[in-house]
Amino acid sequence: MLKKQTEDEIRLYGEIDKLVTIVVEGQAFQVPEHLELLRCFQFLGFKIAFENFCWNANCENCAANVRKQGQSFERMLCCQDVAREGMEIEKLPSGVQIK
Ligand code: FES
Repeated sequence: MLKKQTEDEIRLYGEIDKLVTIVVEGQAFQVPEHLELLRCFQFLGFKIAFENFCWNANCENCAANVRKQGQSFERMLCCQDVAREGMEIEKLPSGVQIK
């Protein structure tokens, strides 16, 4: 069962119904299903240079090579693409670091 979310968590991440496993730079993490990847990085507590990112598909600073389960890597915008089970992010965008 998922823990009760605070109002701030609901505002940032929406109501979390299900967690899925994604792989970031070779490490597995659990994140809310269908949450934008950049927001997932925030959910995970990664260090984010917030000023580097527009969060709305304009700057492309969040681009990363992402592979959906059973597919090959494609360049995607982490502020637009959402988490799905088994996704892999080859390398985090510049300005995001695993703590
Ligand atoms: S954060 Fe600017 S395009 Fe994704």
